Formats: sequence, structure tokens, C-alpha cells
Amino acid sequence: MRHSTKPIDDATPIDDISGLKLPGGRVYTLKEIYEAEAKNIALATLKYLSAPPSKKIAPFTYGWLQELHQEMFGEVWEWAGKFRSVELSIGIKAYLVPVALKELANDIAYWDTHETFDIYETAARLHHRAVQIHPFQNGNGRWSRMLANIYLRQHGSMPVKWQEDLLAKENPKRDSYIQSLKEADNGRYEKLIEMHQHTY
Ligand SMILES: Nc1ncnc2c1ncn2[C@@H]1O[C@H](COP(=O)(O)OP(=O)(O)O)[C@@H](O)[C@H]1O
Ligand SMILES: [Mg+2]
Repeated sequence: MRHSTKPIDDATPIDDISGLKLPGGRVYTLKEIYEAEAKNIALATLKYLSAPPSKKIAPFTYGWLQELHQEMFGEVWEWAGKFRSVELSIGIKAYLVPVALKELANDIAYWDTHETFDIYETAARLHHRAVQIHPFQNGNGRWSRMLANIYLRQHGSMPVKWQEDLLAKENPKRDSYIQSLKEADNGRYEKLIEMHQHTY
């Protein structure tokens, strides 16, 4: 079933709406799609953040990293939990994604066992690496912020209250968030770590 979207003010345009799972036969606004995504993501929030998740529930393994994206977006998008096959302006080459994500899972396990960093720095680093890899066609930002929050919640901290309107281009918080990711690209993690200390 083909879909089309009617662009609205205030929303990031979505170039490619193929794979949209919402009932066909009508036009969806980007706002409606965003709200359907938010409803889907709320299920993951409930599952992973309402109480500290055990390592069994949130093992931070390669398979689980994919599964989490499926859980967050699977009711709305066919490609949820599936690696992208196209190159994007952010992220590594598509064919490198599986190996990079396996390496990330291994690094998280190592950092965790050896307590290489404190929990805020670990959360910041895994968030940054996850979004730098950019495994999926979309939802990488929300997925990587969720990952960081699950990590924090699992290690005795409350989650960070990310303004989920970080998507909105004119949100001033978005600029400092993107700026802190860019600094982390150059090995300067301070700002991003500080953002992870702003828990509820
Ligand atoms: N230069 C950048 N500009 C915009 N987003 C960036 C940049 N560098 C990294 N990102 C990350 O990519 C995310 C956007 O990727 P996307 O897959 O569209 O995720 P989402 O749909 O959840 O916003 C941002 O939220 C941010 O985490
Ligand atoms: Mg997006």
C-alpha cells in the first residue's frame, strides 16, 4: 500500500516513507507519524526504564542492540531493527555496520566488567558510538539516547530527560546537543558526559 505525507511546519521532512506500517488508504502528516513513533517508543520506555532493567532483560549484546530498535519502531516501520543498506550523510559506510556494532557490544561489555569509566562517561561513550555508526535508516538518535538511558537505569542512576523535541531544528537545546556530539567525534567527551549527568 502506498503512502504519502503532507509536510507540516515544524517537522523534519522524511524523504522516504516506504515501509510505513500504518493502515493504508490515506495520507499521514509527519506529525501523525512522529506521534505513532512516540507511542511505540513509550512501550520500550515502560519496559526498560520504569524500573532498573536486569542484564537478562537488557544485555547490551549485538542482537539486543538491534532488537531494541525493533521494539521502539517495529509497529510503525518495516525496516525497524534492520540495518540500513544505503549511505547517509551521518554514519559509517553501510557495509561496515554489523562489524562496528559487534565491536561496540564487545566494548560495552569490557567497560562494564573493568569499570573503565564511571557510568556517566560509559553512557556518553556508548551513545556517541551508537549514533556515529548510525545502523538504521532512521531513529538512530532516539535509539542511542534510549540505549544510554537504559545503561544509566541499569547502573543505579535515573535516566536523562532528553527533550524528545530534539528533532525540532529550532530547539536551542538541539544545537548544544549536536555540538557535544561533534566534540566527542574529536575525542572531547566533557560536554556529552555532562549531559548524561542531568538525570531526573
Ligand atoms: N551533525 C549532526 N546533525 C544532526 N544529527 C546528528 C549529527 N551528528 C549526529 N547526529 C545524531 O543523529 C541523530 C539523527 O539521526 P536519525 O536517524 O534521524 O535519528 P532520529 O530519527 O531519532 O532523530 C541526532 O539525534 C543525533 O543524535
Ligand atoms: Mg530522524
